[in-house]
Amino acid sequence: MSNPDELLRIEGIRKTFPGVVALDSVDFDLRRGEVHVLLGENGAGKSTLIKMLSGAYTPDTGRITVGGEEVRIHGAQDSERLGIATIYQEFNLVPDLTVAENIFLGRQPRRFGMIDRKTMDADAEVLLRRVGVDVSPRARVRELGIARLQMVEIAKALSLDARVLIMDEPTAVLTSEEVEKLFAIVRRLREDGVGIVFITHHLEEIAALGDRVTVIRDGRSVGQVPASTPEDELVRLMVGRSIEQQYPRERADAGDALLKVEGLTRDGVFHDVGFEVRAGEVVGIAGLVGAGRTEVVRAVFGADPYDAGAVHVAGIPLRRHDVNAAMAAGIGLVPEDRKGQGLVLDASVEENLGLVTLRSASRAGLVDLKGQHEAAERIAGQLGVRMAGLGQHVRTLSGGNQQKVVIGKWLLADTKVLILDEPTRGIDVGAKVEIYQLINELTAAGAAVLMISSDLPEVLGMSDRVVVMAQGRVAGELTAEQATQDAVMALAVSTTPHSNGTEASRGH
Ligand SMILES: Nc1ncnc2c1ncn2[C@@H]1O[C@H](COP(=O)(O)OP(=O)(O)OP(=O)(O)O)[C@@H](O)[C@H]1O
Ligand SMILES: [Mg+2]
Repeated sequence: MSNPDELLRIEGIRKTFPGVVALDSVDFDLRRGEVHVLLGENGAGKSTLIKMLSGAYTPDTGRITVGGEEVRIHGAQDSERLGIATIYQEFNLVPDLTVAENIFLGRQPRRFGMIDRKTMDADAEVLLRRVGVDVSPRARVRELGIARLQMVEIAKALSLDARVLIMDEPTAVLTSEEVEKLFAIVRRLREDGVGIVFITHHLEEIAALGDRVTVIRDGRSVGQVPASTPEDELVRLMVGRSIEQQYPRERADAGDALLKVEGLTRDGVFHDVGFEVRAGEVVGIAGLVGAGRTEVVRAVFGADPYDAGAVHVAGIPLRRHDVNAAMAAGIGLVPEDRKGQGLVLDASVEENLGLVTLRSASRAGLVDLKGQHEAAERIAGQLGVRMAGLGQHVRTLSGGNQQKVVIGKWLLADTKVLILDEPTRGIDVGAKVEIYQLINELTAAGAAVLMISSDLPEVLGMSDRVVVMAQGRVAGELTAEQATQDAVMALAVSTTPHSNGTEASRGH
């Protein structure tokens, strides 16, 4: 007997890869007009589960029913035909095609055998308007920012008239404003009777948007609870224990300035940016998206040029626009975009972890492969990287575990100044605490950490000082005591730039 509101049901699904049981036994069901959240640690099996529904993988054993009928989903077309649309953790659009071409890929309207661009663009326009995104159907996907890409993916799902919409960590890369917009769209779809599978590591989103939650641990569904369940209870279900302290920052006395940035300017991008990070310190950089934070740290790291100003590491000036010089001086950067800049996807975990150290060791003429292996083993263990072994290709790691490898690479390299750009994006609540503890170990050993984060509680919880940027300038600098959510936001939205970065904190 099936419930008329039931859209799909999964029973006892199992999926293995060589050396890995990704899913052991998962039960799940989705109803019309609900947002059903999938919750679980990095590597628990969430993405693998939804790939069974999108046709990317087929289960080893278990049953999937759609509308009460047992189905086999072999490939994306089967999935589409069943009314299932999927927005992957890693997007699936073709960068060199236009927005409209992507929306109607493989289904372009034709006229006299030719693709009917006019109809296609007009249809796309209607869908884009329904999603509420201001983007031209003729824009190339390559030119869009991440939030707009996501909206295009949603427009594409709408064009398929999907009854089931699957979203794998859609908010991980969005600003809070964009998240609100996305939620509005999801709520509207829910009212229209669409069933939505929603994956997120942001627990506060669950109560805000969800109806039910299925918790997955180590490839098994371990519970189903209402979305109104308190966060600490969700955490306990998810990681199997409770987390005492979310931000375990241990502050110590800071030493000498390890990183000093003075008057850094890149015409039209950032202006007169100055701050320092001392040994043993964590300095957070807060600000709205577009404030110029990533641009500044990329220039500090030598990845991009700058027009004026200076960067000193331990008192020694650094050549501008020279990543090798920066690395030799002991600077490391965990970039915002791990796939593009942080990892070699078709190399193993061990090779990726060794990338930085190997480079400096081979320059010195000796490569200690055994030492390398042991070090990789140790750091992967500390970070709790979930993998079949150090030989597993990074491409097949879960999203959060890929991020841990990028961080591990720099931890291994004896980095003096570690710059982290959105380090815990896509990281589960338990693993976040482990990363914070490693930050503590680094600073206790005398390193300096500079951390960009859009997660305000994280900035406030982990920083000894907070530099707030607005419109390419330092709008102010706050001590840990001064740095409240309100104080940071007030500076972040300020439009009159201060001539001197520390001015805003004076007089407190
Ligand atoms: N193609 C593959 N080959 C080998 N192992 C795989 C493959 N795909 C997934 N895995 C493994 O299956 C497990 C589950 O991964 P999955 O991506 O489903 O996790 P997740 O819950 O989505 O995690 P995250 O929150 O980090 O995105 C991981 O251990 C991962 O390494
Ligand atoms: Mg995933």
